[in-house]
Amino acid sequence: MSDSTNEKIIAIDGPAGSGKSTIAKALSKRLNLEYLDTGAMYRAVALVSIQQKVEIEDEKQVLAIAKEMNFNFENGLCVVNGFDATKEIRGSEVTRVVSVVAAMPTVRQEMVERQRLWVEERNGGVVEGRDIGSVVFPKAKVKVYLTASEEVRAERRIEQEETIDASKVADSIRKRDEADRGRSTSPLVRSEGAIEIDTSLMGVEETIEEILGIFKWN
Ligand code: DC
Repeated sequence: MSDSTNEKIIAIDGPAGSGKSTIAKALSKRLNLEYLDTGAMYRAVALVSIQQKVEIEDEKQVLAIAKEMNFNFENGLCVVNGFDATKEIRGSEVTRVVSVVAAMPTVRQEMVERQRLWVEERNGGVVEGRDIGSVVFPKAKVKVYLTASEEVRAERRIEQEETIDASKVADSIRKRDEADRGRSTSPLVRSEGAIEIDTSLMGVEETIEEILGIFKWN
């Protein structure tokens, strides 16, 4: 990745419900950069694996799906193999199995290559996920690690996933965070040089002002 491209990359990592998507979208508008939700890519692989009824633990088969998958993420719309899957990738079955797929080293390698290409083609972008500052773009100009209390994170996911069973949502977040932090390949960590912001009590504007102020974006 060239230095000039690294200058225009904003890497945002953090656990589920920490505010990554909201902040990434707001930053991308503000800075006139495109936005990539890398979680959507892992979700898309999980969705197609379910649709094609492959054994979700079978890395070879899941990798074949990942390699063949046509994935397009533009303006928040997620198109998978020619179909708008924006809503489907947030379904409960996908959410339940996605961390299995995201723990597979070969699948991650394929996704990371695609993420780098996506950014290269656009000469920068706002990219959110779990390993963006640590693995995908370690030289990004701006690196942010977002957190929020467990209660706030569960509340946000309840809104996003239109679920009313709060204890189930909190439980699912906890399980997924454990899997994302505990896996051996590219676990969720605060990367070197990343600033940590707790968004529990912060508004969107306040958060993006803090990020842009710290990194003196111009
Ligand atoms: O952000 P999300 O909930 O849509 O992410 C879905 C899953 O993908 C979650 O289990 C974490 C995983 N993921 C990952 O391992 N690496 C990324 N860069 C993005 C998401």
